[in-house]
Amino acid sequence: MHIAHTLPELRHALRHAQRPAFVPTMGNLHAGHLALVAQARPRGDATVASIFVNRLQFLPHEDFDSYPRTFETDCAKLREAGCDLLFAPRETDLYPEPQTFKVLPDPALADLLEGEFRPGFFTGVATVVMKLFMAVFAGKPQGVAVFGKKDYQQLMVIRHMVRQFALPIEVVAGDIQRASDGLALSSRNAYLSESERAEALQLALALRALSRDALAAAHALPQHLPALEATARQALAARGWQPDYLTVRRRADLLPPQAGDGAGQLVALGAARLGGTRLIDNLEL
Ligand code: PAF
Repeated sequence: MHIAHTLPELRHALRHAQRPAFVPTMGNLHAGHLALVAQARPRGDATVASIFVNRLQFLPHEDFDSYPRTFETDCAKLREAGCDLLFAPRETDLYPEPQTFKVLPDPALADLLEGEFRPGFFTGVATVVMKLFMAVFAGKPQGVAVFGKKDYQQLMVIRHMVRQFALPIEVVAGDIQRASDGLALSSRNAYLSESERAEALQLALALRALSRDALAAAHALPQHLPALEATARQALAARGWQPDYLTVRRRADLLPPQAGDGAGQLVALGAARLGGTRLIDNLEL
């Protein structure tokens, strides 16, 4: 696997590629990332991953400084997964000057859910992903980018961005990878103590229970949903969590369900803090 740190190195390494298949990451790779690399490999003529902890998508009080940086083990995992090229820019390579031009996602999508609790997050994500796309795909007739469904809203923001800017990039969604007990794999799971790790599964269980209750109430979901969501939040809070949201939304736009919406059209999404760790998860109904 070749490693490029600068844009010229990356462009040189990709000079013969006609259809790069790209997996952007912030490193500290786990089986979820490697599944995205496996999805990317057959879809392009060069498999590219990036590792870049993007300061722009962290709020001042968030974990930018402590975000786990595990470059050597990440490289070994990517090599084993058959990745051809790793782009690992330093901050000054990607942001040689303060990034005052930003990609502003549609607030109707980006100010909900994650955006409500992490204002500016999706602007930071969209801006860096646009820069990474320009780095990897500039001058290429087409490309593929693979994003995990665990960051469900992020995937929707990126799809919207690709569509509105008419980028010749196929966006592919990777299913959530879970530990054997059902906890969604996440780099931030590394922050959990042993007892928190055992408890962490409760977020997935709460979403499963909420989904089941929502489907049972599908005949009049808009009327019943607020109470079902409150019950789900209270159940987690009673176990010591601090839930930001546990909700059922329409897959199409992440707005609350309308009368008649049911299985195949909905997704349950949750974000909650356990101790000092904020976890997110979702489940399509
Ligand atoms: O999902 C992530 O790891 C990040 O948000 C991404 C897409 C690599 C942008 O920094």
